[in-house]
Amino acid sequence: MTPITLRLNGQPHRVAVDTRATLLDVLREQLADTSPKKGCDHGQCGACTVLLRGRRVLSCLTLAVSCDGADVTTAAGVTHPVQQAFVDHDALQCGYCTPGQICSAVGMLDEFASGWPSHVTPDVAATPDLTDEELAERMSGNLCRCGAYANIVPALRQAAGEAG
Ligand code: FES
Ligand code: FES
Repeated sequence: MTPITLRLNGQPHRVAVDTRATLLDVLREQLADTSPKKGCDHGQCGACTVLLRGRRVLSCLTLAVSCDGADVTTAAGVTHPVQQAFVDHDALQCGYCTPGQICSAVGMLDEFASGWPSHVTPDVAATPDLTDEELAERMSGNLCRCGAYANIVPALRQAAGEAG
C-alpha cells in the first residue's frame, strides 16, 4: 500500500492505496464518494468521469497513485450551470450516467472555452461554434443506455450559454 494525499471536492484526504487500484475504486470504496459510477470499467462508457486537476478523465483508467497531491472533483462536488440545465431539460432517465455526463460537460465546456478543436471542427484555426454536432462529438465518450441524448444536447446548449 502506498500513502497518497488528494483533495476531493475541496476536502483534503490522506489514504493508503494499492498501487494497482484505480481512482474510481479508491473514490468509491475508500473515500465513500459513490457519485462516479462503474459502468464498463474499461474506459468505454464515461460513467466514471471525474475532473482531475480541472480536466475530465476516466477514473476507471486512472491509477490512484498518479493522483498524489491532486485536486479531484466528482459530480458530488461540482457547482456549475450544467446541473440546473439538466433539471430544466429533464436530461436524464435512470440517472446512472448523469454524474459522468455532468463532469464531462464541465470539462468539455472548459476545453471549448479554451479554443480546443474537436474531430468535427471544420476549421481548426478558427474559433469553433458549439453546434449540436460539436456537442455530440465532444460528449461522445459518455454513453447513456436510456438514450436521453435528445434532452442532454439542449441542456448542454443552455449550460454553454450560461457558463460563457
Ligand atoms: S466505467 Fe470508466 S469508462 Fe466505463
Ligand atoms: S439516464 Fe440512464 S443511463 Fe443515462
